[in-house]
Amino acid sequence: MLGLKTKKIQQRLFFWFCFILSEFRKTNGRENGPDVVKVVVFEGEDVILPCSVNNKENIESKLFDWRKDGQKEVFRYDGGLHDNNGLSGQDEQFKGRVSLFKEQLKFGNASIIIRNTEVTDSGDYTCDFPLLQPTQKFYIKLIVDRVFKNQSGQIPGAPPEPLITVLKITEQGVVLQCVVQWAFPEPTLQWRNSDGHILPAEKTQVSKRGGRYDVILQTTVTKTPTNCFTCEVRQEEIGHIVHRNITLPEKLFESCHSAGLFLGGLLAGVLILAVVGTVVLLVGRNYITIAWKNGSQQQGTDSSNTAAEPLRSGVEMT
Ligand SMILES: *[C@@H]1O[C@H](CO)[C@@H](O)[C@H](O)[C@H]1NC(C)=O
Ligand SMILES: *[C@@H]1O[C@H](CO)[C@@H](O)[C@H](O)[C@H]1NC(C)=O
Ligand SMILES: *[C@@H]1O[C@H](CO)[C@@H](O)[C@H](O)[C@H]1NC(C)=O
Repeated sequence: MLGLKTKKIQQRLFFWFCFILSEFRKTNGRENGPDVVKVVVFEGEDVILPCSVNNKENIESKLFDWRKDGQKEVFRYDGGLHDNNGLSGQDEQFKGRVSLFKEQLKFGNASIIIRNTEVTDSGDYTCDFPLLQPTQKFYIKLIVDRVFKNQSGQIPGAPPEPLITVLKITEQGVVLQCVVQWAFPEPTLQWRNSDGHILPAEKTQVSKRGGRYDVILQTTVTKTPTNCFTCEVRQEEIGHIVHRNITLPEKLFESCHSAGLFLGGLLAGVLILAVVGTVVLLVGRNYITIAWKNGSQQQGTDSSNTAAEPLRSGVEMT
């Protein structure tokens, strides 16, 4: 009885929690992020964080405040004074790296430039006009993507197209494997058929080396009208999507269906050979020479090799 009551109370609390959360999101207007501007750069690059007042009024004499993650002072401007000219309080992280576009202020443009960005500059920025009537606040999400360097220069983290291999053929279908190596930020992989439907992933493997991700995704496919399959790689944070297609030859699916038959056939063949061999041996022991017997054994192994050939060449076809 008591358990039932607490369960009801829990359900109610959960409902209210969800309701309040959704209301909070609505009033903040940030659920789908239409008013959050997303900016992506590679580390070391300069970036402009955009911000303009709604009516484009002259803001040379106004006050505005750029902050990161709600607290760190990035840049403050107050009627001609600012963090590079008379104001203090700027966070150490941004000292000497941020400036505004003075000639743009009269057009209501409070954009700033951050020079020589670092990965740690990534975060949620606000550009706030607390004294305007009504107040105005703008949200900018900055992502600074890491760049890995080797001797010959810089390699950005976005991976090239994924690699697809035909792993094996089973009775259930053809097992495809999609591999992405050395990607950053962490990519998500998806298999699709030519209608765009997502295919169930069977085996996912993520490993990390040197701050980058290797991801492997397997799926089993069966015959479709096109036999075309797509492996898609997404890196949401940097808005990067790449894909690669594979069109499988019809023959591969014939060999999937016959994979079972083939094995059965092979087994039956071996059995028959054994029986025939035994009979021949028993019946003809006195008549048949040892030399003939050796010859027939060799023939047996040869024929099983050639029978296995179509399957093997099918697997290697990528
Ligand atoms: C504000 O100024 C910056 C720097 O000149 C410029 O890139 C940006 O387009 C301007 N924004 C608007 C809305 O004019
Ligand atoms: C450095 O990166 C380039 C571009 O990805 C690559 O072609 C080259 O092999 C790399 N060199 C070394 C020494 O890793
Ligand atoms: C891969 O296949 C998809 C869906 O069939 C198609 O939209 C896309 O253009 C193809 N891409 C390439 C590179 O052929």
